[in-house]
Amino acid sequence: MKFFIDTANVEEIKQAYEMGILSGVTTNPSIIAKEGKEFKAVMKQISGIVGDEVFLFGEVISLNAPEMIKEARELVKLHKKFIVKIPMCVEGLKAVRALKKEGITCCMTLCFSVPQALLAANAGAAYVAPFVGRVDDIGWEGTRLVADIAEIFAVQNIKTELVVASTRNPVHIIEIARAGADIATVPSKVLFGLINHPLTKSGLEQFLKDWESVPKN
Ligand code: G3P
Repeated sequence: MKFFIDTANVEEIKQAYEMGILSGVTTNPSIIAKEGKEFKAVMKQISGIVGDEVFLFGEVISLNAPEMIKEARELVKLHKKFIVKIPMCVEGLKAVRALKKEGITCCMTLCFSVPQALLAANAGAAYVAPFVGRVDDIGWEGTRLVADIAEIFAVQNIKTELVVASTRNPVHIIEIARAGADIATVPSKVLFGLINHPLTKSGLEQFLKDWESVPKN
């Protein structure tokens, strides 16, 4: 399972990139709004940090297929590995199908059920994004949804990748990895916290303390 960061904050993206674990950056209109900057300027700044090796996801805001397609054609100019996020709706499905024919790669976002994921795959989405935390929020089990989609995609030999969004804690990360998610897109605070373990900290302190007693020269 690959790690993406779910933010448009350039400092956090830089930090994740320099950690050596970053395969992608995901944004959505809410994430962009938090930065208080013009959309294209932020995307170009992110693109400059991560270079060609990292995917950059950005979302259309139109609600009809022809406008979504127009937006998508502009968005892909912003970064070499740009993936266009299209919201789950009938117009979105139409746009995904048309964009695939043009060679533009799409992620169908706001997925909350197995049937929605199957529709996205049939339209030709290369990625589908189930929102694990928001499913938990309404009293269902987000990780169960991810496991169901992963299992059914495997049975059906569907190649659409699962980029799991709305991850909120390390247990989400463990459970979606177990379920077979291809990608976890993780908010900065959760992503940077994944490395922490009290035994790693105390173990390193002990190693360095013991090293002091090793005769030098
Ligand atoms: O990528 C979607 C994500 O940003 C939503 O997260 O925590 O608002 O459900 P959350």
